[in-house]
Amino acid sequence: MRYVWYLCLVLFISGLTACSPIQDFFFAAEPVVEFERQALGGRLFDMWYDEIEENFVPDDPDTLRIDGHGGPHGNGTLNGADGEPVENTGHDYRLKNLFGWDMRGDAGIYGRDHQAKPWVLQTGPLSPQHGGATRGFWIAAVTNGDQELGIPVYGDVLLPGEIEALVDFMLAVRDGQLPHPDDLYALSTEAPKGFILAPGGDAARGRQFYAAQCAECHGDDATKIIFDNGEQSLGQHARHYGYAIAMISLSGEPGSEMGAELSLNLTAAKQTATLLDLLAALCDRERYPRGAGTDPDVPDGDPRCREYLR
Ligand code: HEC
Repeated sequence: MRYVWYLCLVLFISGLTACSPIQDFFFAAEPVVEFERQALGGRLFDMWYDEIEENFVPDDPDTLRIDGHGGPHGNGTLNGADGEPVENTGHDYRLKNLFGWDMRGDAGIYGRDHQAKPWVLQTGPLSPQHGGATRGFWIAAVTNGDQELGIPVYGDVLLPGEIEALVDFMLAVRDGQLPHPDDLYALSTEAPKGFILAPGGDAARGRQFYAAQCAECHGDDATKIIFDNGEQSLGQHARHYGYAIAMISLSGEPGSEMGAELSLNLTAAKQTATLLDLLAALCDRERYPRGAGTDPDVPDGDPRCREYLR
């Protein structure tokens, strides 16, 4: 009975505030909520199935059998727009694989001139071909799949609100409301992994940021968590794959306790500067060493970290 009273009260108050300045007040306080929503979109972009309740394990592309879990067929595949399962050629149905971290498909960091990933799609949201594409276009393409673009049907596994967050994240990157890849690194056909960090990062500021935002979990020298089955410390990882570290710091690591790590109220320009400072700092091999990582570190003169390399 009490319950009903509460319900009436809530309905009454929401009726009162529906068109009032109170509502404007609450919506005015929303940038933080919006940032968190976009960050969720970023984690879904990275690896959606680590962020949702449903259990999805992509089919293992190295075995003949289709042996994953979940999805419309229960076997770790997603459909294409034509209703036929899309083969996992190694993309694992992750959008960061299909589009590449820089969302430019074959012309971008995973494309033929850079990392040459066999599964990368022709284009992505940041490709000039799609410059004018609307939010509605991308929501439809991700929800229902797009045969021409090669996008699988995510509407079978993600909720509409999740797809909106994912699309809004991609478009915020495209439109410069979040750090844009061009401001973080340049593509290079010579550099290993196809990128060179942008100039202008301040390693001293980056060390302060690291100490405040990352050290608690990753340790003072970034060796406390070793990634990829013991291969790389965070410092090493940043020197090898700075472009990914920037995006993961921005949005958080899917399915882990690590959330978005930047201050919520920063402009995109300040977020970009903070990420560059962080990457510049992590290019110091002495301060942020290999630790127990089994991969060799980047050699002297490696171009990715440019003059930040220490
Ligand atoms: C609350 C704890 C916490 C904080 C704070 C935190 N991380 Fe993490 N981070 C984690 C955990 C846990 C993982 C997942 C580790 C794993 O996959 O084994 C992770 C994963 C990562 C990864 C993914 C590596 C990969 O597998 O590709 C990167 C990059 C990373 N963190 C960078 C940072 C940076 C940079 C900061 C600071 C800006 C930071 N983290 C702050 C806990 C944290």
